[in-house]
Amino acid sequence: MSFIVAIDGPAGTGKGTVTSNLAKRLNLVYLDTGAMYRAVTLKFIRESIELDNLEDLSPEQKERVTNLLKNIKLDMKDKKIYLDGEDVSEEIRRDPVNSYVSQVSHIEEVRKSMVDLQRKISEGKNVILEGRDIGTNVFPNANVKIYLDASVDERVKRRLKQNAEKGIKSSEEEVRKNIVFRDNNDKNASIAPLRQAEDAIYVDTSDLSINEVQNKLYKIVKNAKRDSKWIEKGYIMTKETTWKKFERWFVKGVLASTYHICLRVEKKGMDNLPKDEGFIICANHLNYLDAAGIVLLNKRKVRFVGKDNLYRFPILSWLGHMFDIIPIKRGKNDMASIKMCLKALKNNEIIGIFPEGTRKGLEKQEKIKNGAVFLAAKANAKIVPVGIKGNFKLFSKVRFNYGKPIDINSYKNNDDPDWLDKASDAIMDEIVRLTEE
Ligand code: DC
Repeated sequence: MSFIVAIDGPAGTGKGTVTSNLAKRLNLVYLDTGAMYRAVTLKFIRESIELDNLEDLSPEQKERVTNLLKNIKLDMKDKKIYLDGEDVSEEIRRDPVNSYVSQVSHIEEVRKSMVDLQRKISEGKNVILEGRDIGTNVFPNANVKIYLDASVDERVKRRLKQNAEKGIKSSEEEVRKNIVFRDNNDKNASIAPLRQAEDAIYVDTSDLSINEVQNKLYKIVKNAKRDSKWIEKGYIMTKETTWKKFERWFVKGVLASTYHICLRVEKKGMDNLPKDEGFIICANHLNYLDAAGIVLLNKRKVRFVGKDNLYRFPILSWLGHMFDIIPIKRGKNDMASIKMCLKALKNNEIIGIFPEGTRKGLEKQEKIKNGAVFLAAKANAKIVPVGIKGNFKLFSKVRFNYGKPIDINSYKNNDDPDWLDKASDAIMDEIVRLTEE
């Protein structure tokens, strides 16, 4: 398992300093992908590739570029980059590389070759990569994505200071022109343009010192690293052994009795539940105790789909394992979770899902999630709607009203791109009706 941190953003946002520092503090492999594109640019310059008309490469040029890329040798060690064995760390930060790197980095063949190399270097490791397209293209499933930004004025100031420290002579006008030019080129590129990934954390560094940025990012990455360890552990589904079955039977018995003592439970429509097949229970979500009610007060095992961070807390993780709760990453297209649900349905198991996505989602006017309908359609499984009514105060009454199984085929309409959403809304309406019935 690797742990990937993607740091993207335009030039001069402090990415380099911050990323290499975080790598050291958090013991991560550091990969400066910009330096890789710079080294390729230097190689092209040395090999006299015509760099002024890169938009339109002739077939011969393409072949030369492809051959050069096949034979290029890039090594990254201790913040230094070696091109065919030669340390070029300083040369790649100067002109003419500065002037051509942006165009070179957008040649399709260059891009593909560097992205492949970045993925290969990162395989099975804990890596922090800085660049432009790491979170959007190289590692769209990175564990952490951060987009660093800063105003142009501030970035010019920083680059000038950096150059002076390195003894590189540059005028303000020259640096500004280069930054604005590269911003435009990177943002408007036809392949993998610079943009913030939807799930990236945006950090504006204009008014922050480098230390402040570092500390902010350190906290974000450290927490994510800790979470990933827990989630990794929690994700490993424990086997269904005789001991596990006994443990579940015992714990379920104790908790169900406690539930009955603390709440006056009324169940309706239990005959509606299909007997031997797999199906999906969809209910309204008022309180964590409603999921517990469905799990504890059903003879068969009901596997709820729950937030993956539940596996971070020891007791919840233990319960999660015992009741085989299926973890899901919120707000992401979690393929692993979808696969687990489909497998469970195929094994004739019962899945529990709250289409509101969160507690009191209807009240909060959240969009109804269409995951349950999607799974039902994919697995050809029925959905049993359940209306729950109660305030879950001690000794108060709580009612579970199980409705008739819904065959999702009656809603299926492949000509309507919104049919999943419409069917999900209809099922939610039925759940609400059952709470009143
Ligand atoms: O980060 P830098 O300034 O050293 O990057 C040099 C150039 O490489 C920059 O103009 C954009 C390009 N680049 C890219 O297209 N994709 C990356 N992942 C990293 C850099």
